[in-house]
Amino acid sequence: MARSRQPLIAGNWKMNGLKADALALAKGVADGVRQAGWQDRAVLICPPATLLAAVADAVKSSGVLVGGQNCHAKASGAHTGDVSAEMLRDCGASHVIVGHSERRADCGETDGIVRAKAEAAWRAGLVPIVCIGETLAEREAGRTLAVLEAQLRGSVPLGATAATLVVAYEPVWAIGTGKTPTTPEVAAAHAHIRQVLSNLTADAGSVRLLYGGSVNGRNAAELLAAGDVDGGLVGGASLKIDEFLAIAKAA
Ligand code: PGA
Repeated sequence: MARSRQPLIAGNWKMNGLKADALALAKGVADGVRQAGWQDRAVLICPPATLLAAVADAVKSSGVLVGGQNCHAKASGAHTGDVSAEMLRDCGASHVIVGHSERRADCGETDGIVRAKAEAAWRAGLVPIVCIGETLAEREAGRTLAVLEAQLRGSVPLGATAATLVVAYEPVWAIGTGKTPTTPEVAAAHAHIRQVLSNLTADAGSVRLLYGGSVNGRNAAELLAAGDVDGGLVGGASLKIDEFLAIAKAA
């Protein structure tokens, strides 16, 4: 299987940032990426939808990519308050996070909904970052790999390829808690994800698998070096320019 996977470091800003701070953060990241001149990794930031267009403008020509945090499955219509993948694309997005555990929990998003959103991303020309991950109770019950497999089978649309899919493994109990799995636990989860993907995609060996959950400047080098890890999905630490750049450097 091909193993030419360019690392991707994605910042998930969640519901944080007003215009002034967000633009300063985006410009700081863009300056750092420009200075580093990385050709061997990609850096993506996912601001709130309200800031997407302005952030895309602020990072223009730096090589920094911009993505959404969620999208509706439909392209347009009577869905008050929602944002479509086409709208994200129109603002300059190249990627969209779908099925983040906070949306699965807060908004009742099922695997079927996540799959429809991933298909919507394709329709709009975006790459979906499909998030999966077990809860603490599921881990303690020894069900981690089974949960990941079920989520993958339910959330990844038919016809996915390495060019049209990124998967993020985010243990729910590691998000925003400062707790992380051990490196062997991350490697075991990612190896299983890749194995399951080999039934779902033609080129599973080339699909990028991100680890997410309490990644920071101190633990990034170790977590991102785990087997089958091709980058990170970073929440809290993506709100600090130096720390986010340190994580990108460690990738
Ligand atoms: P965290 O969030 O880095 O703050 O744990 C990661 C995520 O939810 O994507």
